[in-house]
Amino acid sequence: MTESIIYDINLAAEGRQKINWVKQYMPMLNHLNRLYSQTKPFKETNLVVTIHLEAKTAYLAEVLHNAGANVIVTGSNPLSTQNDVAAALVKEGITVYAKYDCSKEEYDTYLDKALDLKPDLLIDDGGDLVNMLHTKRADLIGSLIGGSEETTTGVNRLKALSNQGKLAFPMIAVNDSHCKYLFDNRYGTGQSVWDGIMRTTNLSVAGKTVVVSGYGWCGKGVSMRAKGLGANVIVTEIDPIKAIEAIFDGFRVMTMEEAALHGDFFVTVTGCKDVIAKRHMQLMKDGAVLANAGHFDVEINVHDLYELSVKPVYEARRNILAFTLANGRKINLLGEGRLVNLACGDGHPIEVMDLSFAMQFLAMKYLLDNKGKLQNTLYTLPAELDKKVASLKLKSSGIKIDCLTDDQVFYLNNE
Ligand code: NAI
Repeated sequence: MTESIIYDINLAAEGRQKINWVKQYMPMLNHLNRLYSQTKPFKETNLVVTIHLEAKTAYLAEVLHNAGANVIVTGSNPLSTQNDVAAALVKEGITVYAKYDCSKEEYDTYLDKALDLKPDLLIDDGGDLVNMLHTKRADLIGSLIGGSEETTTGVNRLKALSNQGKLAFPMIAVNDSHCKYLFDNRYGTGQSVWDGIMRTTNLSVAGKTVVVSGYGWCGKGVSMRAKGLGANVIVTEIDPIKAIEAIFDGFRVMTMEEAALHGDFFVTVTGCKDVIAKRHMQLMKDGAVLANAGHFDVEINVHDLYELSVKPVYEARRNILAFTLANGRKINLLGEGRLVNLACGDGHPIEVMDLSFAMQFLAMKYLLDNKGKLQNTLYTLPAELDKKVASLKLKSSGIKIDCLTDDQVFYLNNE
């Protein structure tokens, strides 16, 4: 085992407690653990996991490790690594390169070092690892069986590579499985964004005006949960169809210029840059709270906030930076504009990640089982696997659904 780079190994006991807690509520991963820790299908397979490093991710890494893989774990965002969880993994014999609040240079070094493992398989979240393989470490591509991608932004980067004919190994867009985006992006982000905002600010959401930018899968969840908490929700969009969907779901739709005047809370979740920029910030109310849930910290232009600030920026509370504008109003930024649910919280609810990470495990198994048979392109997981995970989830929750009779099958196929 190579030496890990983490903050402090002495935090391992706290991290272990967090991992043990999530294990209780991850029946799908428990099932896969029981099934494959005996047969060890990943024996002699090098596998890099680059996902936000908190307890659920740690358990996925352990299940892969128990299934025989030689696993190295890095974080996928400087503010989403939990140092105690990283320490617990190292105690378990898994190599980790990740520290909370590491610099961009350190973050890149960790990815680079993880690639020294010469991975056969990889799990990426956001596309940084795959990008590094294509740009800096192309020498490793020949031995790679393939990889999978966790999030929309990473999938969009892969689509761009694939469309240019430049994707150099098979990748699976786990994000595009039903069992991922319908539940993780929508309900997972919906809950965890508000968990992150509420625990960080201790403010009431009820009666407030919440502006959600982007009405994709994540934005729908964030808006739905804000409404459930009693907020008045405004949606901003660039896609006319999504805008109409938001209207029919009962939300007001307007431009960010207009919404900037009304919002108490702003949540960006678009995958785009500069969704909130200087011209919007100057219009905002005193005390406005800005949070981003999109993958990269480019949706709120933080540089603009610093430029607008006429007094020293200060930490108003843990994970909240306060900026004072020339008009005397204060704007509060959560988690430095990084994914608020991970930078200021523990990420998605456990049960949701159980589904997503079961899909990730099955994607790794699929790539291994189809070694040498896949093209250098972007795949989605076969629909049967999606259904299998959904069926297992229902079974583990003790829920039964109806089955078609032969007569009904005949009717549906012939009428
Ligand atoms: P999506 O593609 O379903 O939705 C994005 C929406 O944003 C689209 O409707 C698009 O029209 C809209 N949009 C794009 N630019 C815009 C702009 N400038 N102003 C207003 N609307 C704009 O994507 P999804 O799945 O909702 O993901 C969004 C982002 O969240 C991605 O970066 C993704 O990687 C990330 N994500 C974050 C998670 C978290 O835990 N915080 C979980 C899953 C995804």
